Amino acid sequence: MGHAVGEMKEGESYEGVLWLVSGQLRQTKNGDPFWEGTLQDATGSIGAKLWDSAGGKRGRVKAMASVLETRGPVTVVGTVDAFQGTLQLNLASVRAAAEAEFDPSWFSPRSKRTTEAMLDEFSRLVEGMEDKDFRALLEAFRRDGDTFRRFCQGPAAKAIHHAWVGGLLEHTLALARNALALAPNYPVLNRDLLICACVFHDSGKIFEISSDPGFEYTTDGKLKGHIYMGARLVERLCDGIPDFPEEKRRHLVHVVLSHQGDRAEGFGSAADPATPEAIFFHHLDNLDAKVQNCLTALDKAEAAKETGPFTSPKGSPMRKSYYRVRPLGESPASQPRGVVTPAVEEINGDDEQRDSNPPQPGLFGPDP
Ligand SMILES: [Fe+2]
Ligand SMILES: [Fe+2]
Repeated sequence: MGHAVGEMKEGESYEGVLWLVSGQLRQTKNGDPFWEGTLQDATGSIGAKLWDSAGGKRGRVKAMASVLETRGPVTVVGTVDAFQGTLQLNLASVRAAAEAEFDPSWFSPRSKRTTEAMLDEFSRLVEGMEDKDFRALLEAFRRDGDTFRRFCQGPAAKAIHHAWVGGLLEHTLALARNALALAPNYPVLNRDLLICACVFHDSGKIFEISSDPGFEYTTDGKLKGHIYMGARLVERLCDGIPDFPEEKRRHLVHVVLSHQGDRAEGFGSAADPATPEAIFFHHLDNLDAKVQNCLTALDKAEAAKETGPFTSPKGSPMRKSYYRVRPLGESPASQPRGVVTPAVEEINGDDEQRDSNPPQPGLFGPDP
């Protein structure tokens, strides 16, 4: 068997099962066919090439074309080499992998937190809500079988941040902890609206990004985007709750539609943030995405045993290079990422915390 992708070294031979994420048939300058694509497992992805004369025999590309055109688990044999400083797999053969040859969990990175622990935290969040309408909305979402299951399993993004199984729920909970920590500094903010914003703002990613390894964009994802689809999910759930107050629906839908900032910034918002919660939430979302992007890059540099003081921008979807020297305390690799224990404990003590806070602002009038 081969090594994990993240541990491959130049010059090694490889045999193992990887997920074929994408690829295309191309031609050399001489007109010979070759295939170029991307393979991955839970530890990373690697570019791969199959030359027509691989293994000394011409016609390899045509012989393996039906496998190369599929997406899924493949058994590959090849060698690891470097092209322009980046590792790639030079394939000798590729075939569809039989089910008995692999475990589906091999191919996608997963959250460091268990689904059970995250669902526990989610439940405490819902139970701590005071606004009965927003709480009913989250309870309706939890009962929305397949959609909620996908929400718990899906990534928060294709590559930029929390791009792993369970990443969407992990991102949601991190935002909720930050929202509850910071909102008291702006007493006008409605905390339960903010919690719903945390849950629903990226909920459209369930439909935008395939849960298959590689997290490719779906057709709907490319044509509609997660902002529209998240807003639509909120509208559908509100429709299912008798007499859901129109003004609360409007506020929440607005936060979803505007969460990526002013339209002029070009990040896909359908509306400019125009309420205190929408402005607050946009910056909160950006904060978590950007910090997590940096933390993931630091972790990856550590795992790849990079030696320089800056992370390599090559593996970073944002092409960022972060400073790795940390004379400020513990080494960045020594603490698990994605688990913020003190904040989780804060959520554990949520009842107490909420009781000591002033009542939520009556943005929507007193509850009947
Ligand atoms: Fe988003
Ligand atoms: Fe987000």
